[in-house]
Amino acid sequence: MRLGVNIDHVATLRQARYAGVQDVQRAEPDLALAAAVCERAGAHGITIHLRADRRHIQDRDVLRLRDTINTKLNLEMGNTPEIVDIALRVLPEEVCLVPENRKEVTTEGGLDVSGQFKQLEPTLKRLQLAGIRVSLFIEPAPDQIEAAAKLRAEMVELHTGAFAEADAKTRELELKRLQVAAEHAHGYGLQVNAGHGINYTNITQVRTIPHLAELNIGHSIVSRGVIVGLGQAVEEMLKQMNRTR
Ligand code: PXP
Repeated sequence: MRLGVNIDHVATLRQARYAGVQDVQRAEPDLALAAAVCERAGAHGITIHLRADRRHIQDRDVLRLRDTINTKLNLEMGNTPEIVDIALRVLPEEVCLVPENRKEVTTEGGLDVSGQFKQLEPTLKRLQLAGIRVSLFIEPAPDQIEAAAKLRAEMVELHTGAFAEADAKTRELELKRLQVAAEHAHGYGLQVNAGHGINYTNITQVRTIPHLAELNIGHSIVSRGVIVGLGQAVEEMLKQMNRTR
């Protein structure tokens, strides 16, 4: 199973202090450095979501990461003309189309592929003609999988949010939905990915979903990075503070 690390929240941290600063040398944490650390640790790809509201990832991040990443770039995006044009200019290896709503804290719910078939069809064609593999972020539901197959998407990313947030009573049911959906999508020849809310605990159950090719994980990895890296960061600062001149 391959891992795409979503580094949006590294940018969230940077924007909290440096939102108005264009000079990437001055703003930290450095996204290109974060991506390189993930790659050195074995990540198979870097995932970023260029939102219409530019809440975390900025246009210049997409351009810079396109240049510095050695694995593959997976650009998550809404189906809007502005962002589609950017994707066609930057040419990430993969695009994952997601629903977007300005008020949400993070992506909520899957893309309504069957309901938006007509709007999605030309976008998929344009992206695929440019050599970009397309994934659709969907709920683990039969009608969505069938619509994704009909659209000739290369991949689906099954939304694991409902499973990750479920209580003990409904968790098995949500897991079953994902397992059935994965079989269904695989049967249609779609590459099966999954993402949202996957962490160091629920990964044990996520692993039981069949045919998973790739997981996109963000928040839990960035959070764990803060904890396991904080000690070293403090040690380095103390050393600098008390260095004899
Ligand atoms: N995959 C998709 C399509 C997403 O929208 C997100 C959240 O930005 C993720 C994966 C990563 O989710 P998380 O940060 O909960 O790991």
